[in-house]
Amino acid sequence: MPSRTPSQPRPIRKTNGTIIPPTPTKFKLAMPAPTVSLTQDAEWCVVHLDGEWRQIRFHDYATLFSIPGLYEEVIYRALHCESPAVVVGLLADHLESVDEDIKDMRVLDLGAGNGIVGQRLRRFGAERIVGVDIIDEAREAAERDRPAAYDHYVVADLTDLTDAKRAELREQRLNCLVCVAALGFGDIPPEAFTGALDLIADDGWIAFNIKEDFLESDDDTGFAGLLRKMERDGELKIERRRRYRHRLGTDLQPLHYVAMIARKMG
Ligand SMILES: C[S@@+](CC[C@H](N)C(=O)[O-])C[C@H]1O[C@@H](n2cnc3c(N)ncnc32)[C@H](O)[C@@H]1O
Repeated sequence: MPSRTPSQPRPIRKTNGTIIPPTPTKFKLAMPAPTVSLTQDAEWCVVHLDGEWRQIRFHDYATLFSIPGLYEEVIYRALHCESPAVVVGLLADHLESVDEDIKDMRVLDLGAGNGIVGQRLRRFGAERIVGVDIIDEAREAAERDRPAAYDHYVVADLTDLTDAKRAELREQRLNCLVCVAALGFGDIPPEAFTGALDLIADDGWIAFNIKEDFLESDDDTGFAGLLRKMERDGELKIERRRRYRHRLGTDLQPLHYVAMIARKMG
């Protein structure tokens, strides 16, 4: 198994130029050698736990979230993920520019995972924050690691919502959808995204990010076509776009995503 063990933690250079000094890691961790090129959904690490090395695929969220701190260590510290900060920051900035306030948002955080986005929304003062994810392990990790992040957290499949779960989510009177690092790649399909949009009030706000390749005309995830159609049909108005570095791949190459702020039209 080709792998590299980071011998020394490296400083983090943020895209805005800030340099964050390295902090010691509590994990013994290794990743594939940078010369190995993997698609994002095949990337993995090995971690030394209870006397043995375990290989974990990054997209095996149930396992990743069950080990406290591992998701943060791999995705945020080692691979420098910036997406929650970029997407939530862009939402707050855009709302301010149109004379609205994030403090009035009742947000559905789709693909909420262990709560990093919810925590950021909380810091910005969103009125209500509801997480939704398809796996129990995500809710358990959010409750364990960030108990104050969500007012409510629902485990559900939005492509096949029961009447009871739909009613539970409608009761939240949501007017904003946020979805970070969860579209495509066998994660959230277009039908789950539109299912979530249905739960948001007309004129509500949508903040999300997506890999830039998924916006190309030859994209086969269905998102490029869906967004074009929704814009053409006047269902969605995209008001802000920002291309940025989502994180590094294990080959240390930048993975570029586009963050978007859109409005759900009546
Ligand atoms: C990369 S994680 C992102 C977590 C969090 N948004 C963040 O930025 O840290 C993707 C999340 O999407 C969730 N997910 C995947 N498919 C989903 C689906 N169909 N419906 C809801 N959540 C889904 C996964 O369980 C996982 O928690």
